[in-house]
Amino acid sequence: MPVVSQRSQSVPLSPFRKLIPLADRARAAGKHIYHLNIGQPDIETHPTAVAKFRKLPWQILDYSPSNGIDTYREALRDYYARFDVAVTADEIMITTGGSEAILFFLLACLDPGDEIIIPEPFYANYNGFAHMAGVNVVPITCSIEDGFRLPDPAEFARKITPRTRAIVITNPNNPTGACYSRTALQGLAEIVREHDLYLCADEVYREFSYDTELQSILQLPDLDEHAIIIDSVSKRYSATGARVGALVTRNLTVRESVDRYAKLRLSPPGLGQRLSEIMLQDDGAYLAEVKEDYTARRDTVFQRLQAMPGVYSYKPGGAFLLLRPVSYLR
Ligand SMILES: Cc1ncc(COP(=O)(O)O)c(C=O)c1O
Repeated sequence: MPVVSQRSQSVPLSPFRKLIPLADRARAAGKHIYHLNIGQPDIETHPTAVAKFRKLPWQILDYSPSNGIDTYREALRDYYARFDVAVTADEIMITTGGSEAILFFLLACLDPGDEIIIPEPFYANYNGFAHMAGVNVVPITCSIEDGFRLPDPAEFARKITPRTRAIVITNPNNPTGACYSRTALQGLAEIVREHDLYLCADEVYREFSYDTELQSILQLPDLDEHAIIIDSVSKRYSATGARVGALVTRNLTVRESVDRYAKLRLSPPGLGQRLSEIMLQDDGAYLAEVKEDYTARRDTVFQRLQAMPGVYSYKPGGAFLLLRPVSYLR
């Protein structure tokens, strides 16, 4: 029998998907399953946009441009402006979910054997994507006692080696829900400038910053050559099946490198982009309602955990996740 690749055998399994067969078996046995393994929102996908999308006329479901439909990228440019992020449509590259943006970033900016520094705990699929790109993940541990705040710049600096190419953060964070302050991000900005590294921020939970305004790395001055954003409509509009994300950077060389991969895979999803463009229109009321719902859920879960004897918890500032380490359970 022909053998499969060693690469496929050693890639870390997606921890989210690993649990599915167990859940399926339990469901078949009549048990109710609460999915805490994957960030699949139970909130309805932007209903008015979906209604408009269903009426879209089209005869041929064609490839879109490799970097995405122009009108969608222009609409996204205006969307980022809402967050004081000034980018042009050309600086936005549409991808097949945020997942492909992560992979494209690694393939475009790092060579096999290079390193990325990531505060841990981090979104576990970064391990798998890094493996695919032959990149080594260097974790830097955050602590529940201070709500998983970003470690001091000096701690990042200590992890830098000649193979370090990037610092990668997720803000608001998955799985901790931590949101990073402008001062903390400025600390990272200084390091990446000093050591000529990329600063990649996964901001797919941008809308869900509950106590403070989200700080994007693209708001920081003098970071144009370093800053790369990973984005996605999956959580924002409860549209994980649209498979539409984006890689945003002002660095032209990075965009040209990403473009080589984007052209190879021809096109991001056409239907998903059309839906995403509609979802961007008049989304204020929808997003406000979703945020209110998540805030109430966050508060309820936090209060209930606080009330449990022997359970240590903290209030996550964003995303829709809360981490409760088992070792803290007595
Ligand atoms: C932090 C983070 N980045 C990226 C992704 C991937 O999102 P997408 O569905 O757009 O591929 C997820 C999905 O859970 C995530 O939590």
